[in-house]
Amino acid sequence: MAEKRENWGSKLGLILAMAGNAVGLGNFWRYPYQAAKNGGGAFMIPYFGALILMGIPLMFVEWNLGRYGGKYGHGSLGPMVYLQAREGVSPKMAAILGGLAGAIALGVTVLVNSYYNHIIGWTFGYAFMSVTGGYMDAAKSTGEVFVNYIQSPGLVFTFWLLALVVLGFAVSGGIQKGIELLAKFMMPTIYIFGIILIIRTLTLGSPVNPDWSPIAGLNYIWSPRWDQLSWTAALAAAGQIFFTLSLGMGIICNYASYLKPDDDIVLSGITTIALNEVAEVILGGTIAIPIAYTFLGEAGLGAGVGLSFISLPNIFRTMAGGQLMGTLWFLLLAFAGVTSAVAMYNYVVSLLEESFGFAKKKAALAVFLLYVVVGLPVALEPILTKTADLAYFTEVDNWVGSYLLVVLGLIEVIAAGWIMGGKAKDEMNRGSYWKVPDWFFKVFIQFLTPISIIGLLVMSTRDYIKAGYFKLVPSFVANSPQLIPWVQAARFVVFGVLAIGFFQAYKTIRDKYGVELESNQVSIRK
Ligand code: ALA
Repeated sequence: MAEKRENWGSKLGLILAMAGNAVGLGNFWRYPYQAAKNGGGAFMIPYFGALILMGIPLMFVEWNLGRYGGKYGHGSLGPMVYLQAREGVSPKMAAILGGLAGAIALGVTVLVNSYYNHIIGWTFGYAFMSVTGGYMDAAKSTGEVFVNYIQSPGLVFTFWLLALVVLGFAVSGGIQKGIELLAKFMMPTIYIFGIILIIRTLTLGSPVNPDWSPIAGLNYIWSPRWDQLSWTAALAAAGQIFFTLSLGMGIICNYASYLKPDDDIVLSGITTIALNEVAEVILGGTIAIPIAYTFLGEAGLGAGVGLSFISLPNIFRTMAGGQLMGTLWFLLLAFAGVTSAVAMYNYVVSLLEESFGFAKKKAALAVFLLYVVVGLPVALEPILTKTADLAYFTEVDNWVGSYLLVVLGLIEVIAAGWIMGGKAKDEMNRGSYWKVPDWFFKVFIQFLTPISIIGLLVMSTRDYIKAGYFKLVPSFVANSPQLIPWVQAARFVVFGVLAIGFFQAYKTIRDKYGVELESNQVSIRK
């Protein structure tokens, strides 16, 4: 298996693919409203703090986990964590840690993608509607247009399946001819569209209110509002770092598994972060909020779905050149989404190849069908309940898209820093253009990073309890009886996928390293 493992075709292709993995909907859709809502410039302090304390060290840890696992022929997290953990604890214990890591990574790649693919579908749909003028009719508010969209089976299914077909084709093409090619086309396009959108944004006049302008919008996102800097804001910042850098998901490790054993890790990891942060802080921060602020003032800065799919279309329908701007904006979102979703898709495909001997194309088809099945509840909830609360989506995101990322990050850094220890540092530095200094490994990877992640987990748990997420009926649906079954279904699915993920990962480890588990001694080495 290891002999036939694919590799990246070029350094440029690898970096663009890794940056594509990280640059996603999180940069353009999630970041602007998180920053605006949580203190503007004040948000930047916990944001950059989390980047330094957790983002950068974990990026090294994940590249290293992946490259090390790839050497043994693995693309999935279970065996990767096992291989590092067995260096410091017994193989039996290492297999349990591997099982837990594999469970979360499968949970993320199957279930985060179950809604992520839908958002990509919406962006395709909205790009199409921007071209055809589908939301231009002023008789209907853009809020109504959006609700109508997610409640229309024809629109939802057409563009969602289109997104899945694009992803399926890219993954079937393999690492070099599929994922790398896609990234080489889409990543530069994202930056070019982003720059065009910024230029147009900054030259907007304000037709509505003399106090509203793009510069006032930038001021809003950048000037610190210290009164909004709370623990919740700090947690949001740290959560954003995990999400935007694709950490705690298993997908950076999976891409790194296609490196050769002596390929650089450290500089490449830093470059991935730099490209992601430019896309997030510069492009993500300079488009949506300033546009919305110019036309709608502070009231236009709705959260999440509200900003991208309701406020901005409302502006595109009135501004000069709005249809073109709308098309560029939604294509930018679509491309950013596709280059991240393809990494999640590839994770599950590589797991089927590695653990069940599937051929690539057959695995890609199987995962296509899997995504159709797991994506159905996300599509059906608004259609069947005639609501737009997206309770199933919210519940899956609360657990798998936020909380569990941090748990997986903790397992990874403990496996590398505490269990494998110094050997993990030597492994990271092998072939690297820049070396991780001894002090950095000790201060960050062995101390500050795990401690910060534990702190983040404790505080997040406290916030989740306060928000009522641990209740039998979570508070956010307590007054909407028709949504309760959707939330319970989400919990059932999350639990089911995690359980399958645990047993699958454990079985893969046992199949390959059974001798070690029986003798409880390490004997297989490459
Ligand atoms: N890192 C990806 C994003 O930001 C998942 O959307």
